[in-house]
Amino acid sequence: MGVFTSTDDPSSTGHEQVVFCQDTQTGLRAIIGIYSTALGPALGGTRFYPYADEESALADVLDLSRGMAYKNALAGLDLGGGKAVIWGDPEQLKSEPLLRAYGRFVESLNGRYYTACDVGTYVADMDVIARETRYVTGRSVEHGGAGDSSVLTAWGVFQGMRAAAEHVWGAPTLNGRRVGVAGLGKVGKHLTRHLLDDHAEVVATDVDPRPREWVRANHPQVELVDDAAALVAADIDVYAPCALGGALNDDTVPALRARVVAGAANNQLAHPGIEKLLAERGILYAPDYVVNAGGVIQVADEIEGFNFERAKLRATRIYDTTRQILRLADAEGVPPAVAADRLAERRMAEVGRLRAIHLR
Ligand code: NAI
Repeated sequence: MGVFTSTDDPSSTGHEQVVFCQDTQTGLRAIIGIYSTALGPALGGTRFYPYADEESALADVLDLSRGMAYKNALAGLDLGGGKAVIWGDPEQLKSEPLLRAYGRFVESLNGRYYTACDVGTYVADMDVIARETRYVTGRSVEHGGAGDSSVLTAWGVFQGMRAAAEHVWGAPTLNGRRVGVAGLGKVGKHLTRHLLDDHAEVVATDVDPRPREWVRANHPQVELVDDAAALVAADIDVYAPCALGGALNDDTVPALRARVVAGAANNQLAHPGIEKLLAERGILYAPDYVVNAGGVIQVADEIEGFNFERAKLRATRIYDTTRQILRLADAEGVPPAVAADRLAERRMAEVGRLRAIHLR
C-alpha cells in the first residue's frame, strides 16, 4: 500500500501530508495524517493502538484523517482534517517521555495539525503533550481545556436524532418513542439522560456489567436487553449505536426494526453500499460523522479559549445541519450519507477557495 495511491483503499489518496515520526529510545512510532487544510489547520485526535503491522496503522490514519476533514467541515469549523496514530500497546508503551517526544513532533508541524484524544489517549495525556506543543486540544479543565468531550458528543447526537425524528414523524422530539441505545459508555450514559428528559422510552445494552449496573441504579425505568443483536431485533423506533464501528452491516440492517438510526459510534456503515440497503428498507440513517461532531466542536472551542456555553450552542446546531442534509438527500434522491459528503465537499471547495484572495 502506498501513501500517494492505493488500489484497495480510495480514502488513502488525496492527502496533503503524511508524517512518520520515530524516537527509538522511548519506542515512539507515530504517523500523522493531514488530509486537508482547505478550511484551516487540521484537527483530529491521536489513536494509541497495537496495530498488527505498519500497513494497518497507515491505513487507519489515512482513513481517519479523511473522515475528520468531512466532520470538521460539516460542523462549521474553520479547521481542516487530520488524525494521528501511535503504533503500540498503550498499557505497556505509554510514558511521559514518549508522549512528550510525540508532542515535539506535533510542534514541528508549526500549527498545520492540532491533536486531541482518541482511542487509547486521555485528557491527562493531552496535558503531558501540551508541555511540548501549543497545538493540542482536549486538555483538562485545570489546564484551560475542554475536558471530557463525550458531554457535547451526546448532546449533538440528541440534536441530530431530533432532526431525524422530525423528518420521519413530523415533530422534533423523541417523546413517546422507543429508543435503543447500544453501548452505555461515556456518550451512551449522557444520551440516555437526554432521551429520558425528552420523555422517550429507552431500551439499552452493554457488554460490560458495570454500566448496566449504573443504569439499573440511576435509571431503573430503562429496559436492559442481553446484547446488541437483541436490541436490533427489538420493537424500537430509533437505534442509537454508541459502542464500536461497523454496527450497520449485512446482518443487522435486514434485522433492524427501527425507522431511524442516529448514534455516536464512528464508522457505523460496515462497508460502502450499506447506506443504500438502509434506504431500500425505509430506514433513515443520520450520518454518524454529522451527529457525533459535538465532541470535536467541544475540543475545537479550546483553541479560542474554552467557553462551554458557546460550544454547546455550536453543538445544538447539529439539529439544523442534520435537517439540511436530510432535505438535500430527498431533493437529490440520494441516501443521507451521500448528501452529507456532498455538502462537506462543497464547503471545503467554496470556503477553501477564498484563500486564493491574497491578503498580506
Ligand atoms: P466508551 O468506551 O466510554 O463506551 C463504549 C461502550 O460500549 C462501553 O461501555 C463498552 O462496554 C460498550 N460496548 C463495546 N462493545 C459493545 C457491544 N458489542 N455491544 C454493546 N456494548 C458494547 O466510548 P464513548 O466515548 O462513549 O464512545 C462511544 C462511541 O462514540 C465510540 O465509537 C466513539 O468512537 C464514538 N465517539 C465518541 C466521541 C466522544 O467524544 N467520546 C466523539 C465521537 C465519536
